[in-house]
Amino acid sequence: IIITGFLFQYEYFNAVLINERDEDGNFLELGKEFILEPNDHFNNLPVNVTLSDVQVPTNMYNKDPAIVNGVYWSESLNKVFVDNFGHDPSLIWQYFGSAKGFFRQYPGIKWEPDENGVIAFDCRNRKWYIQAATSPKDVVILVDVSGSMKGLRLTIAKQTVSSILDTLGDDDFFNIIAYNEELHYVEPCLNGTLVQADRANKE
Ligand SMILES: *[C@@H]1O[C@H](CO)[C@@H](O)[C@H](O)[C@H]1NC(C)=O
Ligand SMILES: *[C@@H]1O[C@H](CO)[C@@H](O)[C@H](O)[C@H]1NC(C)=O
Repeated sequence: IIITGFLFQYEYFNAVLINERDEDGNFLELGKEFILEPNDHFNNLPVNVTLSDVQVPTNMYNKDPAIVNGVYWSESLNKVFVDNFGHDPSLIWQYFGSAKGFFRQYPGIKWEPDENGVIAFDCRNRKWYIQAATSPKDVVILVDVSGSMKGLRLTIAKQTVSSILDTLGDDDFFNIIAYNEELHYVEPCLNGTLVQADRANKE
């Protein structure tokens, strides 16, 4: 569970804007230098194997706080992508598709808009995304109930758990674990198992 309530200035590598400069030769905003090298593992496309970069469809605002926030926290996937690739060199592309509409891709590449300058690709319309978003899921929710989570924070956390449960249906299985110094299942009878996300169990 990630509770986000903060806004801040943060620049990410936008796959369309990287390496683009204005008339004066300065990099565009979100368009910093991003080193790309052709790599035969990736169809000889120029890629960056240390970093992923982010694509945002044209109909969305690059600097929308919800997108910037998501891009920020998903940045920690860079390490996961690189480690996965290290452990399994047969892996090719690795993706993260956000419900907010941005798309993080590893290795990082330069993304070209179509001939009309439009970036139509929206990961949320892709089959793999829809399938992952709607297929049966096993979900374990970890809730911090330590002293730092008093009052409003705990109320928000409970509402968040409740909203997550609302997204689960009969095909899904779940459990909830609370932790402070120790872990405990919120429902001791359901210790160590996943239960069907039917109405009775969710209640
Ligand atoms: C990936 O791009 C970053 C930013 O330009 C650069 O620092 C890094 O060296 C690049 N990685 C590779 C493998 O070229
Ligand atoms: C689950 O039950 C086992 C066996 O009764 C117990 O040892 C364990 O501490 C319990 N785990 C949690 C997280 O409650």
